[in-house]
Amino acid sequence: MLLLHLSDVDEASWADKLAAALAPYPVVRRGDAFDPAEVHYVFVWKPKPEAFDGLTGLKAILSLGAGVDALLKHPKLPDVPMVRFVDTDLSQRMSDYVVAQVTMHHRLYTRFRADQKARRWSQLYPPAASETSVGIMGMGVLGQDAAKRLLPLGFTLRSWSRTPKSLEGVEGFAGDAQFDAFLRGTDILVNLLPLTPETTGVLNYETFGKLRRKLDGGPVIVNAARGGHQKEADIVRALEDGTLGAASLDVFETEPLPQDSPLWDIENCYITPHIAAISDEKSGVSYYAGIIRDHEAGKPLPNVVDRQRGY
Ligand code: NAP
Ligand code: GLV
Repeated sequence: MLLLHLSDVDEASWADKLAAALAPYPVVRRGDAFDPAEVHYVFVWKPKPEAFDGLTGLKAILSLGAGVDALLKHPKLPDVPMVRFVDTDLSQRMSDYVVAQVTMHHRLYTRFRADQKARRWSQLYPPAASETSVGIMGMGVLGQDAAKRLLPLGFTLRSWSRTPKSLEGVEGFAGDAQFDAFLRGTDILVNLLPLTPETTGVLNYETFGKLRRKLDGGPVIVNAARGGHQKEADIVRALEDGTLGAASLDVFETEPLPQDSPLWDIENCYITPHIAAISDEKSGVSYYAGIIRDHEAGKPLPNVVDRQRGY
């Protein structure tokens, strides 16, 4: 039996589609009458404290999100394999966001927007894409997809990961020892790391101060991963004193971003409400229905989270 425990999304719609895809395999929601001991899979997003109560027969936890940082902090998380969302549709959506932000900053949008507001005709030619270095933190599923889509646009690319990665056309840096060298050659810093104890607060004032100062207006950060990666007080300071030329932020320390956050009022801060990439219902149903069918047929679970690493 599959149990859905999805908050902040249309759980009924997901349940209907999963039931249709898996029939006659039973699919239930909270509030339905069922024996919790018969639940073999639980599909979760933002699970409540009681989400796993009584689920003594669990074979796997299925995460609606690609990021599992919040799930790993659940106080009653059962000790069974946890599968995260990995899907070409999700990667495409994230790369759409990254490409939009990178190209906007590369073409000095902040500067020309300000000039237009001031009715100022001031010709400044943006660099060629090849003269602009985009540094991607996190060379996993999403980081690699973003790199593959930025590469044909002509950008100079570099990446930073925990273990060395080699992707054609991307200069790879790995580990703490190579972090500063990675930053020193980066104009636009894109964050696609998972949130772990090691990566918490990585977007801080010291990091920003190490970025290359070649792009007109200053270096730029794009955070599409988790709010816990960024120190917002440091971003405010860096945007105000010119250490950063601009920031595109999709995620925040507290979500929704509080009304009194100073970030709302900063001209060169581009805020979106955690919409960079959503797990699409059609592809999510196909992904998880396939996984349950395969696992029931004896195949191993894919994309299992390594709890020691935290992602
Ligand atoms: P992934 O495939 O697990 O890739 C993670 C990458 O980060 C890997 O390259 C990994 O290095 C690297 N990494 C991990 N810890 C590191 C460390 N301490 N130092 C340096 N590099 C480190 O993850 P993904 O699927 O690409 O997703 C990344 C994150 O995006 C998710 O965790 C989620 O939080 C976020 N996300 C956000 C949205 C949104 O709408 N804003 C949507 C989806 C996902 P190795 O290659 O060496 O393992
Ligand atoms: C969304 O933020 C996800 O982790 O998929």
